[in-house]
Amino acid sequence: MTTQNTIPLPETEIPNAARIYDYTLEGTFNVETDRQAAEYMFHLVPSTRKWVKLLRSFLQEVARELYAEGFTQFLDLGSGLPTTDHIHTVVPKARVIYCDNDPLTVEYGQALLKDVPNAHYILGDLTNPAEILDSPVVKSVIDPSQKVAIGLNAVLTHLRWNEIKSLAETLYGWAPDGSKIYETVETKEIGKTTPQFQQFLAIFQQAGSPMYMMSLEENMEVMRPWHFIRIEPVADYLERDRNYITEADREGVGLEFYAALLGKYGSGR
Ligand SMILES: C[S@@+](CC[C@H](N)C(=O)[O-])C[C@H]1O[C@@H](n2cnc3c(N)ncnc32)[C@H](O)[C@@H]1O
Repeated sequence: MTTQNTIPLPETEIPNAARIYDYTLEGTFNVETDRQAAEYMFHLVPSTRKWVKLLRSFLQEVARELYAEGFTQFLDLGSGLPTTDHIHTVVPKARVIYCDNDPLTVEYGQALLKDVPNAHYILGDLTNPAEILDSPVVKSVIDPSQKVAIGLNAVLTHLRWNEIKSLAETLYGWAPDGSKIYETVETKEIGKTTPQFQQFLAIFQQAGSPMYMMSLEENMEVMRPWHFIRIEPVADYLERDRNYITEADREGVGLEFYAALLGKYGSGR
């Protein structure tokens, strides 16, 4: 899975999370500083690349499935870089709005999408979802008479319990009937940790984007009133071989990522 970078990148000493993620996906939208930061993370948690690739595969698979179900509008939240393996290339006929709270990611995103008329990139913080939903782009692109596919892929771990709760409730109040959320949830065994995993978490803490790990049950509770239609380990969702995830990939902390689909009114449409 490779991506093409079509805009120039600055030489910088400061790594950027979205460019690090792109390097993890073996894309070309990154600079040496990002690659060094990523390699240090792989050193601490070697399964990082494997998990991140699975998360991106889920994003692509679920976009295809939802489009096949008749979803023609996507509001993808906490999007990272809209490189050539993101939603607008998987379902090119759909209308897509990407959103991120990192201004640099949004700047890159808008540049990458400048020739893509049905994909847009907005700045927005998931801790203030009302502002995102009130934005002129959302108001002009999303047809409120049609169901919306709402994405929360690989982002909930950056939000606190009360922030997710408020986000879920606000999205539910706004979303047309029949809308669906696609999300992934990162979990680990409660109380289990290793020095490497602690160091890994400390990197995000120092970068100002701490990671909060919640259990699957907590996620199911906090996402109410959305109705869970499907939830399973991401490797199972993608029908990977049952030994695809090894004990080593769990990093001594019982690491697991779940993929889920949630619906409004549990309509299953
Ligand atoms: C791990 S990346 C996931 C990117 C993409 N969703 C994917 O699955 O490939 C998480 C993204 O969420 C963004 N993010 C983190 N906290 C956020 C918040 N409060 N509001 C909006 N975006 C946020 C980060 O800037 C980053 O680009």
